[in-house]
Amino acid sequence: MSYHTEFRRSLDHPETFWREQAANIAWMKPPNTVWQAKPNGHGEWFSDGEMNTCDIALDANVRAGRGDQKALIYDSPVTGQTGSFTYSQLTDLAARFAGALANQGIGKGDRVIIYMPMIPEAVIAMLGCARIGAIHSVVFGGFAAHELAVRIDDATPKAIITASCGIEVKKVIPYKPLVDSAIEQASHKPETCIVFQRPQVSAELQPGRDLDWTEAMAGAQAVDPVPVKATDPLYILYTSGTTGKPKGVVRDNGGHAVALRYSMTLVYDARPGDVFWAASDVGWVVGHSYIVYAPLFAGCTTVLYEGKPVKTPDAGSFWRVCQDHKVNLLFTAPTAFRAVRKEDPEADELKRYDLSSLRRIFLAGERLDPPTYEWLREKTGLPVMDHWWQTETGWAICCNPVGIEAMPSKPGSATMPSPGYDVRIVDPAGRQVRYGEQGEVVVKLPLPPGCLTTVWGDDERFVDTYLKPVPGYYFSGDGGYVDEDGYVFIMGRTDDVINVAGHRLSTGEMEEVIAAHPAVAECCVVGARDELKGQIPIGLVLVKDGATITPDELEDELVDMVRERIGAIACLRQAIVVDRLPKTRSGKILRRVIRQIADRESYAVPSTIDDPAILEEISRHFPK
Ligand code: COA
Ligand code: AMP
Repeated sequence: MSYHTEFRRSLDHPETFWREQAANIAWMKPPNTVWQAKPNGHGEWFSDGEMNTCDIALDANVRAGRGDQKALIYDSPVTGQTGSFTYSQLTDLAARFAGALANQGIGKGDRVIIYMPMIPEAVIAMLGCARIGAIHSVVFGGFAAHELAVRIDDATPKAIITASCGIEVKKVIPYKPLVDSAIEQASHKPETCIVFQRPQVSAELQPGRDLDWTEAMAGAQAVDPVPVKATDPLYILYTSGTTGKPKGVVRDNGGHAVALRYSMTLVYDARPGDVFWAASDVGWVVGHSYIVYAPLFAGCTTVLYEGKPVKTPDAGSFWRVCQDHKVNLLFTAPTAFRAVRKEDPEADELKRYDLSSLRRIFLAGERLDPPTYEWLREKTGLPVMDHWWQTETGWAICCNPVGIEAMPSKPGSATMPSPGYDVRIVDPAGRQVRYGEQGEVVVKLPLPPGCLTTVWGDDERFVDTYLKPVPGYYFSGDGGYVDEDGYVFIMGRTDDVINVAGHRLSTGEMEEVIAAHPAVAECCVVGARDELKGQIPIGLVLVKDGATITPDELEDELVDMVRERIGAIACLRQAIVVDRLPKTRSGKILRRVIRQIADRESYAVPSTIDDPAILEEISRHFPK
């Protein structure tokens, strides 16, 4: 079947299309109802179906005869450890961890926060939650205690699962003090904290609340997967929005399993037994979907890598992993290859390894800049596929549908809309624009299975953010255009979200932190272009009258505050003191112009600006 036929069928006959896809997963009670719309155009997929996500990921593979196949390979250059788990072994571990959770009184619908480094126990914890219908919320280990506290208060978990430490290249980061501090800061107090002790650090356990992972496992019975409704939440994943408060994206069980299973064929052309490596982190959506769930749904072997593209130990580490584990499909963020290219521009490291198993390289998480695309294609000789998606969708909105029909790639384009996604480009008034014209990227409702069902505890925010801006459409927050051949080009966010090394962050949140400094009268944070990380945040600060702090001292304190409150990944390194902020006459800060100045681009002086001279003052901080 051609891509175009499949795509049209998905939009013209969505119920037939997704019923067929639903037949590819193991239901406990197959759904009769495929789609049920709500008045606002959103709705529910497979509402009367029952299944269990852990059963589909693990037990179903054992039943299909893959019990002795490797399900998970762990490769950790930072500890020198490698290992693997078969489907039978991983099933047993997830079943026992589910039992350990049940022993703590955790069951269907209870929330569990997982704050873990990239170790197999993180995957076991996620699958263990899914097995008993508990809702996990994985928090990326690079977030500071305050961010964890915000998520604890929002998700109100019964338990937190953590490890004694994470390891960043050579730096050992104790996690338990961060967890303790987060619980102290939060109003909600989880009843249990299960701690996996790593040999590098021994965490102190608080009697009555904290439990050692190994002891919890030793005292637990394996439990069977419980049936859950397809519409029951599988997880909450917090992502940055335009305000300081992160949004808890809620993903269901049934639609998620159906969509991810389909994506493994459509987007990645993965087959059972393939080795699939998503070099990301379980704390991000890429990690949820393509380190943990989708490769297992498809009977593949997934790779969990605790390291970096460079420095662990060198720019050949990705190629080494591909060789050692015979990786067939590799997925990462462009920034990872920009880091590799910077250290090894001629790709000399690549020549040391046998990459004959590798079929394709997939990139997402930020715009794939054409130079990185060309470099990777030329040096590896492999097809390099860009695809566009978001935490909200959980799988690719646009991709090169290689599993159905490979399209010629165009540098800078994420290729075509995936079946199920009716992508349109609209102007600020919501009118569709012509081919080649840039606008807001929206998706006509309904969204396909697998996409967010709501924002945890705040359906109004879900509706306001995603459904209200352009009625009848999902508002992506990205800008872009479609060319005459139907190729979609995503050019970047149109809101205050920025993308730093493939990590999605909110400038609004950083502004809240900076504004809390006693010497700061007003501030603004913009994302400036960065050769390695794509974007980095830069703060402009107006000091209160009478404040005696020097600009350098203030910058140091603000950089520390952002690191302390949000985490090192925020990478705010510059906070420039200015006399005034450029504003419109009605008082709105002109962020776009500031961004253009920081990017050393030419800019037009907006007619609405109250004082044009300020732009020249700011320009002096960014000499060309
Ligand atoms: N736990 C604790 N700290 C963490 C962390 C974690 N899980 N992840 C990152 N950090 C810290 C780093 O140690 C660093 O701290 P420092 O300022 O004290 O050195 C800071 O956060 C910034 O980290 P990072 O953004 O990773 O920058 P880097 O310079 O160390 O590495 C890259 C740059 C490009 C190699 C790295 O960002 C990378 O591998 N990116 C791939 C992105 C990715 O996987 N994205 C997921 C979406 S697909
Ligand atoms: P996240 O929710 O962290 O996955 O980040 C999603 C955001 O990353 C999107 O809204 C885009 O701005 C950006 N993004 C992801 N993939 C791509 C891509 N292939 N091309 C351009 N931008 C992308």
